[in-house]
Amino acid sequence: MPSIIDNVITFHREHFPHSTDYALFASPGRINIIGEHIDYNGGTVLPAAIDKHIYICVSRNNDGIFRFVSANHKEIGEVSLKNLYTPQTQSHAANTWWVYPYGACVVSTIEFDYGLDFSFYSTLPVGAGMSSSASITVGTLYALYSLYNKKIKNADLALQAQKVEWDFAGVHCGIMDQMAIINGKKDQAIMLNTQSMDFSYIPVDTSAVRFVLVNSGVKHSLRESGYNDRRRECERAILMLNKAGFAIQNLCDCSIDDLIQIQNILPQTEYKRAYHVISENHRVHQFAREIQQYNLSKAGELLYKSHQSLSVNYEVSIPLIDEMVEWASDIDGVYGSRLMGGGFGGCTISMVALYAVEHFAVTIAQKFKKKENRTPEIYECSIEDGTHRIE
Ligand code: GLA
Repeated sequence: MPSIIDNVITFHREHFPHSTDYALFASPGRINIIGEHIDYNGGTVLPAAIDKHIYICVSRNNDGIFRFVSANHKEIGEVSLKNLYTPQTQSHAANTWWVYPYGACVVSTIEFDYGLDFSFYSTLPVGAGMSSSASITVGTLYALYSLYNKKIKNADLALQAQKVEWDFAGVHCGIMDQMAIINGKKDQAIMLNTQSMDFSYIPVDTSAVRFVLVNSGVKHSLRESGYNDRRRECERAILMLNKAGFAIQNLCDCSIDDLIQIQNILPQTEYKRAYHVISENHRVHQFAREIQQYNLSKAGELLYKSHQSLSVNYEVSIPLIDEMVEWASDIDGVYGSRLMGGGFGGCTISMVALYAVEHFAVTIAQKFKKKENRTPEIYECSIEDGTHRIE
């Protein structure tokens, strides 16, 4: 049976039969264990790269055209080198899947002197909250710098990928996804301070626990969801707190103890958002401590608390996801469960004892089927290296 790599290369050759040489890269998706909606609030988050990838095959061409083809999308993107930077091309790309690799070419600091043929082949589900857009963007940037033999720091590459989300896709996301995807390391979660961009690795004992995602099947699109609204609400809260004398730049500059005072300053909605952000940041540090001491039950409890806060205070959950978390909490061997990613759909992430993974998957699928009359996609994720070159 051909491997995925064989398939990717065959796909590339079929589309670009004249290409003589190619380079092949793999860019992972990410899970976020805990620390949701705080990467744009200066908080600390705990994501990890996973074993679902977007494969990127790229070769040079002599006709000065950038071509983007994907095994997962029918539409083909084509832009001439001469039009690469025009506003017309940018608005043409804006609502297509290839806006991300196209945007990556534009924001990179590479001076192109020839065209490139790109093909993409994904084992990473789109719209499920595993950051397929960050994966393809980081992967394309990595491929470009590697092809041109140009050195770039991981953090700078992550910032360029974030710029693509902001300027080309209109999503004012944080930096977690890009940093997790580029810095991923096997069996290590990344404890990332999103203010300083410093991070350290926290080992995850995969012989004891697994992280299992269940896809609600409700497509979440950050662009259309309330993601940008939440961001604005947090910005409003900061301004109000500044006016009241809090010399902060980010909500995560506040401590849990500040919340008592903050309650008297902020209107209800802004207070709820601030409450989530500040308490979630606190939970990330608690979680890291518990997991390093093998207190899996205590660590798991924090995941439930995170969900509760995302649902009630941050209001980014949906009833189906709340129910999925509830079902998970009734299953033996589940330490914790919560909504993962931007919200308004997407996946839940559950921390499950190794021995209970199969039972968890079967039970949750049954409950889901009964409620929704369809079978959910379930992904048991292993923690893997970040974006890298294969050949
Ligand atoms: C999306 C964004 C991230 C982060 C999460 C919520 O995945 O891309 O930057 O804000 O939502 O934690």
